[in-house]
Amino acid sequence: MKIGIDKIGFYAPHLYVDMIELAEKRGVDPDKFTIGIGQDKMAVAPITQDAVTMAANAASDILDDADKQAIDFVIFGTETGVDSSKSAAVYVHELLGLNPYARAIEVKQACYGATAGIQMAKAHIAMNTDSKVLVLGSDIARYGLHTSGEATQGAGAVALLISADPHIMALEDQSVYFTADVMDFWRPVYSDKAFADGKLSNEQYIAFFSKVWEQYKAKSGLGFEDFEAMTFHLPYTKMGKKALNPVLDETTEDVQERLKSNYQISTGYNRNVGNIYTGSLYLSLLSLLEQKDDLQASARIGMFSYGSGAVGEFFTGILQNDYRNYLCIKQHSALFASRREVTVEEYEAIFEETLPTDGARVELDVKNDPAEICLAGVTAHKRQYVNKSNG
Ligand code: HMG
Repeated sequence: MKIGIDKIGFYAPHLYVDMIELAEKRGVDPDKFTIGIGQDKMAVAPITQDAVTMAANAASDILDDADKQAIDFVIFGTETGVDSSKSAAVYVHELLGLNPYARAIEVKQACYGATAGIQMAKAHIAMNTDSKVLVLGSDIARYGLHTSGEATQGAGAVALLISADPHIMALEDQSVYFTADVMDFWRPVYSDKAFADGKLSNEQYIAFFSKVWEQYKAKSGLGFEDFEAMTFHLPYTKMGKKALNPVLDETTEDVQERLKSNYQISTGYNRNVGNIYTGSLYLSLLSLLEQKDDLQASARIGMFSYGSGAVGEFFTGILQNDYRNYLCIKQHSALFASRREVTVEEYEAIFEETLPTDGARVELDVKNDPAEICLAGVTAHKRQYVNKSNG
């Protein structure tokens, strides 16, 4: 039985800062951000968006009533959740009106959480063939103003509907995963900003890719020539290239050219959104599928997931017949077209805005946020969400 990705939804907040403007304000050569790091725009989450609302907005676009009845498992990968006890999945389950006979959990391992969710979903569907699983990856990446990580921030969510006989991609069974205790990036519970050892994190990412790729080749007997494209977790768009290029010389020049060119296409959306942590690999997959219109069904796509700390996994999928008919290309290009640029000063003010932590009541102005699902306020330490389409 084939199991895999039936639908993919994506959401990014309606605000962004231009990386050239940010570079100028920080006294940095703009080429460092646009070429050295490979980012053009960075999504900025207003206070009315958090991991919950972004995930719910990404999913609400793709689910019909039959999906909402069939989903019996919601798995929410995030490292910027809103509660240490209650899972973000429970909020999304309510906001979307899903079947109450469902499991709803949150999964954490830095940017790897949604990949863990997909593998759990696959096992669940193998045992419950009529069910569907909603896997969410949603995060706001924050390192702090004037930090070296600042240019690699971002915000957004990806929603994946996992089912039997999927319309977009069947996941193959061969998969290689690797864990090692590394302090390359972390966020202590008392901090709302991540800490990173930038150089170590780059080195570990590259080393993890090399380890899982070597093991994958040994296990599967496949090599680069068997792949139409390789997609990567993209903390910034140059990162995947730094891992891929050093090992590409094991294949022919034609294959190298194909993989390099498809890598470039797979970075398109990420270049304009920034790091969205758990959703980042799937945003890259979406860029490839939606922006390369001659990608053939039956093509094999490689996916490298990396979550600092660290866990890495390489796994693969095969594109299904007519997969393009099941993508939301028009909605996603409308989402990008409708975003609004903010100045660096506005971005800084949004970055510093916080919610009360003393139980005070606050009502937020959701009229200024065009998203369907927003955070409307906080009352007695409880977040109040609104789905505007429910009236
Ligand atoms: P930095 O110190 O600001 O930058 O840190 P740099 O000096 O290393 O320069 C970056 C690149 O720009 C270099 O290219 C420079 O040569 C180039 P490279 O050598 O890497 O190919 N450059 C220029 N290019 C053109 N024109 C110029 C110019 N100047 C310099 N004028 C860093 C950059 C990414 C490390 C920093 O932003 C950071 O710490 N970010 C956060 C950590 C991170 O993203 N790590 C990536 C791997 S870990 C990961 O992916 C997991 C993660 O997503 C978290 C999770 O799992 O939850 C982060």
